Amino acid sequence: MINKKKLNISNSNKIYKSAIKIIPSGGQTYSKGVTQFTEGFAPKYLDRGKGAYVTDVDGNTYLDYVMACQPLIFGYSDKDVNKAIVKQLSKGTSFSLQNKLEVDVSRLLIKNVPSAEMVRFGKNGADATSVAVKIARAYTKRDHIAYCGYHGWHDWYISKTDLNGGIPKFNQKLLHSFNYNDLGSLEKIFKKYKNKIAAVIMEPITVYTPNCYGPKNCKSKNCKIFCKKNFLKKVKDLAHKNNALLIFDEIVTGFRYSIGGAQELTNVTPDLTALAKAMSNGVPISAIVGKKKYMKSLEKTFFSFTYGGDCIGLAAAKASITKIKKLNVPDHINKVGLILKDGLNKIINTHELGKYFECIGYPCRSIFVFRGNGIFNELEMKTFLQQELFRRGILWAAYHSISYAHKKKEIKKTLKIFDQILKMFKNLFIEKKLRISSKLEGKVVKPVFRKVADFNSIINKTS
Ligand SMILES: Cc1ncc(COP(=O)(O)O)c(C=O)c1O
Repeated sequence: MINKKKLNISNSNKIYKSAIKIIPSGGQTYSKGVTQFTEGFAPKYLDRGKGAYVTDVDGNTYLDYVMACQPLIFGYSDKDVNKAIVKQLSKGTSFSLQNKLEVDVSRLLIKNVPSAEMVRFGKNGADATSVAVKIARAYTKRDHIAYCGYHGWHDWYISKTDLNGGIPKFNQKLLHSFNYNDLGSLEKIFKKYKNKIAAVIMEPITVYTPNCYGPKNCKSKNCKIFCKKNFLKKVKDLAHKNNALLIFDEIVTGFRYSIGGAQELTNVTPDLTALAKAMSNGVPISAIVGKKKYMKSLEKTFFSFTYGGDCIGLAAAKASITKIKKLNVPDHINKVGLILKDGLNKIINTHELGKYFECIGYPCRSIFVFRGNGIFNELEMKTFLQQELFRRGILWAAYHSISYAHKKKEIKKTLKIFDQILKMFKNLFIEKKLRISSKLEGKVVKPVFRKVADFNSIINKTS
């Protein structure tokens, strides 16, 4: 039976109407904006969250799979992280001299992340990836960068997308994309820009990494998906053969895939690592860690700002890392995430929709992929699923950022709802051959940006 419930989003719409007059695009983060959540049907503003659930400004509650763009590894408003923040608030937030917390959290990172010999802190993930690139350029005295995946908003990276207004063109010439699991695409870059590449920067395991080939030394018990045999090791060897640094962007994978990140899972240790998101359960802080000989470049390369070493972020990171370890959170989120991933694929197959949908990726952040097969528009497919999930109390943007607060109960509920929606998809659009657009009650979602020339590893940024 078709569920016709329409969400009340009147307060969301009211706030947005005034926001759009004073805030460009009406918000701060593209991935949280109206182009990503079917406008006209989905809520626009959240008010509060607890565990895996959020409540919008109209009082609707949802089970959340976006988790504030992935940092919330314990879920919203975690009591232990809150306690650490409140304690620090009473002592002070920023100081006129350095604070011991910087040393405490550095120690924790060095203890847990294989590549960490020295540490500096930033606020956003992009601070960490950008300073990593800066270190590599300073150390090698070269300008060009080979990259795979998304690495943040700074000029050196975003120049290669269609959101590149205000960025001097030369940046584009210095950035070259290669494809995950395709060593040849990286070899070509090293050949074309011989002695010019300062670093290779990549997510060691991307959200789009398809089914696992399982490196021999993979320590993960739950994972069936991985990089092609020895791909990362070969990338490292190739970078070093060409005197370039290897940078792992572990903004998402760090503390989530494993406490020591994907580098711990794969036994491939990069020269530098960018960390953020899960390390502080959503409180702004990031870190660049790496080998001493490279990190020491920061003694002569400027990376300094008023809120570097802000104590709220550091207190949250100290509490989060300690708790992630104590509870072995990666183990939980990978186990629960695998039940979700396997369950979704089973439902897809039960409804004979394998041609159109698949859930891929590492279990603790799997992603739904859409294949239109020339019949359907993939963004319309995503919009339809999102609309029906919202209607049934699930906040979803195609990926599943599992937290410690997502338990079997939440997964069971999610699978039941997906079963209803995919059954409906088959009935409406395959059996009855209706157009998806005829069943959409809001606008079709859009990609955040599109890549420009030579940008071929990930097609659209959707998260
Ligand atoms: C892999 C990766 N690197 C870098 C970033 C940039 O982090 P931030 O948005 O905190 O600057 C992101 C953000 O989503 C990311 O997913």
